[in-house]
Amino acid sequence: MTVASERVLAAEGLERRYTVGGGLFRKSGEVQALRGVSFGLDRGRTLAVVGESGCGKSTLARVVTMIEPPSAGRLEIDGTDPQKADEAGRRRLRRTVQIVFQNPYGSLNPRRKIGDILEEPLVINSDADRTARAEAVREMMRRVGLRPEQARRYPHMFSGGQRQRIAIARALMLRPKIVVLDEPVSALDLSIQAQVLNLLVELQDEFRLAYLFIAHNLSVVRHFADEVMVMYLGRAVEQGSRDAVFEAPQHPYTRALLAASPVADPSRRGERTKLSGELPSPLNPPPGCVFHPRCPLANARCRAEVPRLQMLNGRLVACHAVEEGRAA
Ligand SMILES: Nc1ncnc2c1ncn2[C@@H]1O[C@H](COP(=O)(O)OP(=O)(O)OP(=O)(O)O)[C@@H](O)[C@H]1O
Ligand code: SF4
Ligand SMILES: [Mg+2]
Repeated sequence: MTVASERVLAAEGLERRYTVGGGLFRKSGEVQALRGVSFGLDRGRTLAVVGESGCGKSTLARVVTMIEPPSAGRLEIDGTDPQKADEAGRRRLRRTVQIVFQNPYGSLNPRRKIGDILEEPLVINSDADRTARAEAVREMMRRVGLRPEQARRYPHMFSGGQRQRIAIARALMLRPKIVVLDEPVSALDLSIQAQVLNLLVELQDEFRLAYLFIAHNLSVVRHFADEVMVMYLGRAVEQGSRDAVFEAPQHPYTRALLAASPVADPSRRGERTKLSGELPSPLNPPPGCVFHPRCPLANARCRAEVPRLQMLNGRLVACHAVEEGRAA
């Protein structure tokens, strides 16, 4: 039996701008952290969002989890636009979408016991009584691979991997449909990363979770993602199925990111573009294609004209060279 797909997250032309600087002698500027980002995500599926530092990944995470509103564009969480929802509706949406941050040290209150940290979402958002809450905490601890008797301990008494398990457990206490994972394994040792990724896969199956999985490294999401969105300076530059993006990357930036990731097959090393040059300042992005100062395929058109994100070769890609057949 096939389960009908169920769209739980949809974004259309999301924008987020920040005004920065300004003061007695300085002009203020504007950072366009998100520029026209669109995607859809179904229950039980994973959309990976990948790109270098500063490309807007965490901004997207904050907008999707309603920590910040978009400056423009439309967001729909579980069928509802949070901008148009009333207070009760927004409360429901806050339970529907949860977030796990990169750094479990910073996101867990060091003065509270694990049991209290996990119970808190239920105290605030549910009618469950004390006994039911304690049982739910024990059950979730077991589910993420912790022992229920560890509930009396404080965050500093756990390893990094265990702490991330606690952060994941906390995110799941209210049975969300969507979990935003903002670089959930980047701060962990390599050996621990695989364990936590496996746990996330198991939990996704069990609870039919939709994941928005943020990573700066494509290799982390290779076996994990259903869809991939590659971002550069606030824009999606390539977006499509995992197989399309990994097996036949089209955008020079995606190719460079893949070349920067560890490649298992040594015969394929060096086949791909290397990423050189600095990321331009987001306060003063280059004209035309924002990737042109670093792109080996850049020409005059690239320096003048912003490439449109369009369906080419089975995925969305924003690149003149791909459009002109020069990138093959
Ligand atoms: N509150 C803010 N005020 C001003 N600028 C901001 C703010 N938050 C983010 N930015 C800017 O927006 C851009 C995107 O930042 P963001 O944190 O979303 O990037 P990121 O892809 O998550 O990077 P990293 O990989 O380092 O976590 C950056 O240029 C950043 O400096
Ligand atoms: S549009 Fe031009 S500069 Fe931009 S990625 Fe494509 S080839 Fe490179
Ligand atoms: Mg970030």
